[in-house]
Amino acid sequence: MKNWSIKKKVWIAIFCMLLTIIVGAIFLTLFLYDELYVEKQIELLVTEGEHLAEFHRRGEEAFFERLDWSKQTIASNVLFSDDPMQLGSGIPFEPYSNENMITFEERQLLLEGETVVMVRPHPHFGQDILGVAVPLFQNDHLSGAVLLSMPLSEVYEPFLQIRVVLIFSLIVVILVIILISKKVINDVVQPLSDMKQISTLMAEGDFSKRIHANRSDELGQLAHSFNSLSTSLEKVEDKRREFLANVSHELRTPLSYMKGYAEAMEEGVIEQKKGLAIIQKESNRLERLVNDLLDLAQLEGDSYPIQREPIAFAQLISEVIESFELIVTQKDIRLVQNMDEESIIYGDRDRLEQVIRNLLDNAIRYTPANKQISIALTTDHGWSELIIADEGIGIPEKDLKAVKERFYRVNKARTRNSGGTGLGLAIVSQIINKHDGVFELYSKVGQGTSAKIRIKTI
Ligand SMILES: Nc1ncnc2c1ncn2[C@@H]1O[C@H](COP(=O)(O)OP(=O)(O)OP(=O)(O)O)[C@@H](O)[C@H]1O
Ligand SMILES: [Mg+2]
Repeated sequence: MKNWSIKKKVWIAIFCMLLTIIVGAIFLTLFLYDELYVEKQIELLVTEGEHLAEFHRRGEEAFFERLDWSKQTIASNVLFSDDPMQLGSGIPFEPYSNENMITFEERQLLLEGETVVMVRPHPHFGQDILGVAVPLFQNDHLSGAVLLSMPLSEVYEPFLQIRVVLIFSLIVVILVIILISKKVINDVVQPLSDMKQISTLMAEGDFSKRIHANRSDELGQLAHSFNSLSTSLEKVEDKRREFLANVSHELRTPLSYMKGYAEAMEEGVIEQKKGLAIIQKESNRLERLVNDLLDLAQLEGDSYPIQREPIAFAQLISEVIESFELIVTQKDIRLVQNMDEESIIYGDRDRLEQVIRNLLDNAIRYTPANKQISIALTTDHGWSELIIADEGIGIPEKDLKAVKERFYRVNKARTRNSGGTGLGLAIVSQIINKHDGVFELYSKVGQGTSAKIRIKTI
């Protein structure tokens, strides 16, 4: 039973319900018929019998007149007996019959003045007889009895007609219940079996299928949630594939450069000095890439420990700026600094240095000569805010959100000199997240970019 499908279980429940309805309806009808109709017939016979007894008390003439009237008008056999022999031995079913209708005990009841009701099989006609015997008294002595009887088949005849109607309506009701059940079961079970099928596909790595359920009930909501789950899993899977493709591409390019130059040097096609410089440059690039990837992997995992300590933020920034001085001078870029020396934050020194390094690296890389980069550090309401604003090429609005993703670069052409790997801002984002801070980018193409980070002060 545990392994039965929902469909099977529901059908069995419906079948049991139908069976209960049928059995219940049959019993109820029989009971009501017996209680109401047959009782009514008995009551009718008893009333008529008592009327006859009443007339008997008034006198013989009135009694026989009423007896004739009864015989003609009511739909039952009316038998009068004043024969003590007959009474003594029990009234026969009909004249000259050998079989008695009244048993000894019933005769005793009659003698005591009681009306007797009986249902008895008829000896000749193979059917049941419903009979009522009413005692007739004269001077306190039982002088006779009237027996009103009718075959039970007559009583049940109207019931036969009712039975046809009843069976027909039962069949209609059952058909309607089956049809409605089928529709409801399909309605409920179909989306569930769809979900089962699609989740099997999902387990195999196919996230493309969706459930079509145009409804707003609980199942519709479930299907909707299921579809959202598929969509997000599909996105995660796409991202994973894209990430792997990016990583392998980024690793393959410098490796194939290095291999190519090593071979060219061996064959004497290029000068050894030039070749070695290129190989060194590529291996540096490779090293940086692997380190960045490692950092990201660590930062994205929950286990990465942030070693917090109080940091004089302005001082840390100045140290990083110093390391960029040479390149800034070479590129002829003006650096304007305006920093609140009092700003003390609580964070991981190495990681925050990495943040400033990445942001400054971007600002310098994407800013042409003779332009300005301003670095401002302010403290406000318990927050330390660093803004690195350049006058560089800017980031198009459509790319502004995406540049924080891994490997995302506005200029997709992987130019060896100008382009990094697209991991810098992803690392910044992760580190600031770990510090419960805020990292925002504002940019206008052709005008410049501002990177803003906010970290709580001590
Ligand atoms: N200050 C900026 N001005 C213009 N474009 C920027 C700026 N900072 C970032 N970008 C754009 O955002 C992209 C992503 O920046 P990110 O720092 O993540 O990667 P990257 O600089 O290309 O490489 P990496 O930092 O890993 O060496 C860059 O490729 C660039 O297109
Ligand atoms: Mg960068």
